[in-house]
Amino acid sequence: MTDRIPPADQDRVKIFDTTLRDGEQSPGASMTLDEKLQIATLLDEMGVDIIEAGFPIASEGDFEAVSEIAKVIQNSVVCGLSRASKRDIDRAWEALAHAKRGRIHTFISTSPLHMEYKLQLSPAKVIEKIAESVSHARTLTDDVQWSPEDGTRSEHEFLVEAVTVAIQSGATTINIPDTVGYTAPGESAALIRMLRERVKGIDAVTISTHCHNDLGMAVANALAAVQAGARQIECTINGLGERAGNAALEEVVMAMRVRNDIMPFRTGIDTTRIMQASRLVSNVTGFPVQFNKAIVGKNAFAHESGIHQDGMLKHAGTYEIMRPEDVGLSESNLVMGKHSGRHAFRTKLTELGFDLGDNAFEDAFVRFKALADRKKEVFDDDIIALVSEAKADE
Ligand code: KIV
Ligand code: ZN
Repeated sequence: MTDRIPPADQDRVKIFDTTLRDGEQSPGASMTLDEKLQIATLLDEMGVDIIEAGFPIASEGDFEAVSEIAKVIQNSVVCGLSRASKRDIDRAWEALAHAKRGRIHTFISTSPLHMEYKLQLSPAKVIEKIAESVSHARTLTDDVQWSPEDGTRSEHEFLVEAVTVAIQSGATTINIPDTVGYTAPGESAALIRMLRERVKGIDAVTISTHCHNDLGMAVANALAAVQAGARQIECTINGLGERAGNAALEEVVMAMRVRNDIMPFRTGIDTTRIMQASRLVSNVTGFPVQFNKAIVGKNAFAHESGIHQDGMLKHAGTYEIMRPEDVGLSESNLVMGKHSGRHAFRTKLTELGFDLGDNAFEDAFVRFKALADRKKEVFDDDIIALVSEAKADE
């Protein structure tokens, strides 16, 4: 069931990509300036609403990356991350100086564990810092995003107070992070609903969701938050990110598109660029995409079982819920292997230019099955060779 949504926001969900910031925080995924520029340009072209380009105070390299990305990006809002300090915020704004549209994203932890051990600050001091940081950011730009880090493990009473102060201080987007990937879909939705019920003025700002994948629920949690009224999803290409990663952009976007009947939301993403983005991020970071990864895995549109191949050849809808072209692939892939049946084998032969009579076909099919028992995948060249053998023996 989709909750009533604020009229101003309608059904449009903003896509906030943090591949270059949270994604790069993934151990071993660091990228050069040139690689970041390539990724940012593609994200802009594919319709990402906001690109989080880095954490400018973190290093000279991050500052330069945000600054150079800000200079070239034409349509997306370019965002820089900062802690709740004037120095961080000023540095982020300096990096965004040339952005057509720049956003400051400032955050501070609000969970009891983080406040006591990480920040060593009292809740009252945290509230003071929220007011100071957000109002300072608002003196620089009218696009200010605020996040309560570890939001999903924060006490509700305190979270309501913190979000209220952030909005009163001028935040225009409130992002709720599930920093350690701890929440579950029902709880994710309930948290957004609770905030919408209890925080005055929250429906005048954009509510955002930022989910990590430690329990494999990041995408489900993000979509549940949207159903409860969030209208921005923070995500990364291929789900790259700290530890088990972030919600995957390609998954949230395609889920809302394919299941628009139950998730009636739209994004501005040109989905036909998804494969290109996935391959670029994988090549640049050296992080392979797992074969069975939803949407962009090598096997996502591949079919080997004979029953599935036969069904696919009769009607693609039998075993595919979206068209490969919609994510930028030219066609589905019928993988020839030991599970393939006669129908797929005959189709493959026709594709390869062979028109065999019944006997030759049966002979070639027996040879193919024998080969497929020995090899994981039978390639076109293997089939060409075995057809030649079958013909020679005729
Ligand atoms: O996971 C997290 O809490 C973050 C914040 C900085 C938004 O990445
Ligand atoms: Zn994060």
